[in-house]
Amino acid sequence: MRVGVLTGGGDCPGLNAVIRAVVRKGERHYRDELVGFRDGWKGVLEGDTMPLDVERCRGILPRGGTILGSSRTNPYKVEGGPDRVKKTLAELAVDALIAIGGEDTLGVAHKLSGDGVQVVGVPKTIDNDLSATEVTFGFDTAVQIATDAIDRLHTTAESHDRVLVCEVMGRHAGWIATYAGIAGGAAEVLVPEVEFDIDEVCEFLKRRHEKGRYASIVVVAEGAKPKEGTLALQSGEVDAFGHVRLGGIGNILAEEIEKRTGFETRVTVLGHVQRGGTPTAFDRVLATRFGVDAIDAVHDGDFGHMVALQAGRIVRVPLADAVGELKTVDPELVGVAQVFFG
Ligand code: F6P
Repeated sequence: MRVGVLTGGGDCPGLNAVIRAVVRKGERHYRDELVGFRDGWKGVLEGDTMPLDVERCRGILPRGGTILGSSRTNPYKVEGGPDRVKKTLAELAVDALIAIGGEDTLGVAHKLSGDGVQVVGVPKTIDNDLSATEVTFGFDTAVQIATDAIDRLHTTAESHDRVLVCEVMGRHAGWIATYAGIAGGAAEVLVPEVEFDIDEVCEFLKRRHEKGRYASIVVVAEGAKPKEGTLALQSGEVDAFGHVRLGGIGNILAEEIEKRTGFETRVTVLGHVQRGGTPTAFDRVLATRFGVDAIDAVHDGDFGHMVALQAGRIVRVPLADAVGELKTVDPELVGVAQVFFG
């Protein structure tokens, strides 16, 4: 078969491991010809391809990013987009597509599958907010990066008796904040799932200081929301999928904490550091398992499905199950983090 591969949306450690696994099993086991589309759906719209073979994939397993490039292009926001996708696939004689991406990329895959395109999805996102899979690759790496950062923030916070606010990624879900907050011993963790009360946050910090702890780490997910009418947030540009560019809550929070408590407060916004660099062993293995099963799914004719991790096993689920609803942090896990607040 001739199988196309694309990576869409924000990049994520482990994308190259998926590509390598698809190519390896496709070429060596099935005798497929693999075609890489550059920059996500943009490459499919424009017929922009690169050859993909085992030789091209040498050395990419431990590398972050994606050799295919990525973009947030949405074919359903482009005049005649879905038809252009079909035309490209027909012209290049591509029989099936493997789309590696998050809610947006897989949302497009789901719609295209309804429009007759033979597509299999692979879930990626450091945010870990995709349903139907227990975990996405990239998440473990991001949590480790954030935890290392929090460990470092502790020692400088203690030296100066400061509050240090650490803003992590997590647009709709606070998985990174919760995991890194628990692993890093944060005094507070603020996530999009639970609106926070700035008065309460400051009260906790004051009580902690009264008990003789003069340094505190507050972890905040970029998508955390204050209770209505309590704090004004900035609003940024919107992308082709209607998402506002986030990043700014940490600064607002730090300013407010300092103003209300009088404690010297600084902010660290981790940003894209969480998405870059080498994937952890866990993410490399998960990405490899996903890649192997994705090419198997193509040959089994399991189109309109996504590979997923459930109870430790790789399974295939309808794309509709993956993109219907976001997977937010389990309240039980939020409860574990809360035990250590203040
Ligand atoms: O979806 C993953 C993510 O890392 C979000 O947490 C974040 O809001 C977004 O990507 C930022 O992406 P970019 O700056 O690349 O548009």
